[in-house]
Formats: sequence, C-alpha cells, structure tokens
Amino acid sequence: MTTINWGILSTGTIAKKFATTLSQLTDGGKLSAIASRNPETAQQFASEYGVPKAYSNYHDLASDPTIDVIYIATPHSLHYENAKLCLENGKHILCEKSFTVNAAQASELFELAKEKDLFIMEAFWTKFLPAYQLLHKTLAEKTIGEITHFRAQYGFAPTGARYVRKFAPHLAGGALLDIGVYAIGVAAMILGYKPKELYSSALLGEYGTDTFNSIMLAYENGTTAHLITTIGSLIDPHAVIFGTKGHIVLPNFTALESYTVSIDNGSTYTVQAPFTINGFEYQIQETERCLLAKKQESTIMTHQNTLDVMRLMDKARSAWGLTFPCE
Ligand SMILES: NC(=O)c1ccc[n+]([C@@H]2O[C@H](COP(=O)([O-])OP(=O)(O)OC[C@H]3O[C@@H](n4cnc5c(N)ncnc54)[C@H](OP(=O)(O)O)[C@@H]3O)[C@@H](O)[C@H]2O)c1
Repeated sequence: MTTINWGILSTGTIAKKFATTLSQLTDGGKLSAIASRNPETAQQFASEYGVPKAYSNYHDLASDPTIDVIYIATPHSLHYENAKLCLENGKHILCEKSFTVNAAQASELFELAKEKDLFIMEAFWTKFLPAYQLLHKTLAEKTIGEITHFRAQYGFAPTGARYVRKFAPHLAGGALLDIGVYAIGVAAMILGYKPKELYSSALLGEYGTDTFNSIMLAYENGTTAHLITTIGSLIDPHAVIFGTKGHIVLPNFTALESYTVSIDNGSTYTVQAPFTINGFEYQIQETERCLLAKKQESTIMTHQNTLDVMRLMDKARSAWGLTFPCE
C-alpha cells in the first residue's frame, strides 16, 4: 500500500465533515469512493467533494478492490452490520462512535478483524487531539497535585427529523450512545478505563430511550467522576479535573483546543493547542500510520479501550432497562 484509498460509507453530517478533512490533508490518503443507499445522494456527495467513484449501495463500496480502508458513518445501530460487511470484504475500518450498540458486538468485530488480519478502530477522535497530549503532561507533572474528581456535562437540542432520529430505538438513539460515550471515554482517558463501580440513573423519554443520564464512576484509588449528558437541553460540553492542589477547566472537552489550569496558590494560566483543520485530522493520520505499518490496532485507541467503554455503557443501560431492537 503506497497511497491509501479511503471510502466513506454513508453521506450524513459526519461523513461530510470527514470528507472535508480528507480533502484538506495534503500528505496522506485520498478519498476515492463514496456509498449511499440512494444513487442521487451518492452522486451529489461525489460531485461536491470531488470523489471519483459513487456507489448506490454499501456492498459495492465494500467489494471495490481498489479501496483500502472504509470510514463508517451510519447511525450506531448499523455499525455492527456495516463493519462486518467491510471486514468480510477485506477492508480496514475506522468506525464512528459509539463503535457498536453493545460490547458483545464490538468483541465479535475485533475477533473477525484479527482473524482477517485487518485494522479496525473506533473513531474516538477526541483521544487524538494535541490538547489532550499536553493535558496528560500537565497531569503527570502533578501541577494540580493528585487527581481527586472529574466532572463533565454535555447536552444538545436537536429539532424536527433530527430530534426523532436522535431518539429512535431502532437507530440505538438516546443520549448515552450519542454523547455519553464522550463523557465516559474522556473520564477513562484521565482516570482509567477500569472503574471499580458505576452508579447511574436516566430519564427515558417518549421514544423509550434516554433523554438525560447521570453516571458516577468510583475508582479503586478513591478518585470519582460525575458525568451528565442529555439530548433536549443545550449544555456546553464543559469538564473540570479537580486535584489536591488546584483544578483544570476543559471548556469543550469533546473538541478540546485549550484548557485553563488554576493552582490553589492563586496562579492561573491557559494552554492552547488549536486544530490544524477541524480535529478529525489526527485520527485519520493515526489510521494511516497504522495501515502503513501493517498494524491491526492503534496503541492510542485500543480495542480494549473500546470494549471497556462499551461494557460501562452496557452496565448503565442494564440498570435502566434500556435495550435496542437490534441487539
Ligand atoms: N465524531 C463526531 O464528532 C460525531 C458527530 C456526530 C455523529 N457522530 C457519529 O456518526 C454516526 C452518524 O451520525 P450523523 O450525525 O452523521 O448521522 P446522520 O446525519 O443521520 O447520517 C447518517 C447516515 O447514515 C446513513 N443511513 C443508513 N441507514 C440509515 C437509517 N436507517 N437511518 C438514517 N440514516 C441511515 C445515511 O446515509 P445514506 O442515505 O447516504 O446511506 C445517513 O445520511 C453516529 O454513530 C454518530 O454517533 C460522530
């Protein structure tokens, strides 16, 4: 593989952002094909983003021998079947979050990828952001002492058809799999992927999926996290890391470009790490690095990281009695 040929499976909101990012990355792979369930949508996407091939179904993209890696950007309920189709056709995969609907589906995909010697990774783009690399350094230097607590909150308010789509049980809707995954994923990046306990509660709305959820994580070493996510109210994606000597505010923890450190002795400073493009470039570059090195798995966003977060979400949903038709 010299030039990496990307395909995008679906043409929704995030597929467009991904295509924009790829087109602005000058040194790397190229976007060679797009697939949609609808031929006109595929054609329209192809002409808008200058994509050479447009397929009117996902199978034709998966079986195109010129495509190396496929970015899956369908609703989460479809990730499992879409990823399976791509793996069975020998394609490497970058798959949107939530990676699947539950840990069992994720585990099956990882096994299949290993069997076929293919790369697969959850597109948990937040983990690759330069600001998080700097933040880890700040924390390791004990600038705020020992971490005691992490708090995160995030909510957005869709309207019209998007509202229905975001809550639809057949699309694995609800706040947890849509954005709760960010709060849990970032808590895990900071405190660890294996909390000792998870306590949670949720409000299930008119579609039977969670409109609001609250999750508390407790770790063996005594640190805790409190995470709130909701679809229906606008709440800034804001997080705070508390320590024995100060605290750090993450003003936009999903798309982190800066953070502010406050030390208890009174000093405060802000660390800036702006994106080169829009933040998606780093997960794309990591995928390409792994493909060129013939790796099945990223060491930054591992299969185990995805499984751990999926298991925490399974546990929360089990306490709420929330299951999806596709599982
Ligand atoms: N990383 C991020 O920042 C981020 C942000 C938003 C969303 N996401 C994730 O990306 C995935 C897609 O989200 P999105 O906001 O892009 O969704 P979206 O705008 O609704 O697009 C989803 C696309 O999936 C395809 N699709 C296939 N079967 C479908 C079905 N039964 N119903 C609806 N669409 C179907 C459609 O494309 P065709 O008609 O062309 O086949 C549709 O355009 C989700 O898993 C979400 O969690 C990630």
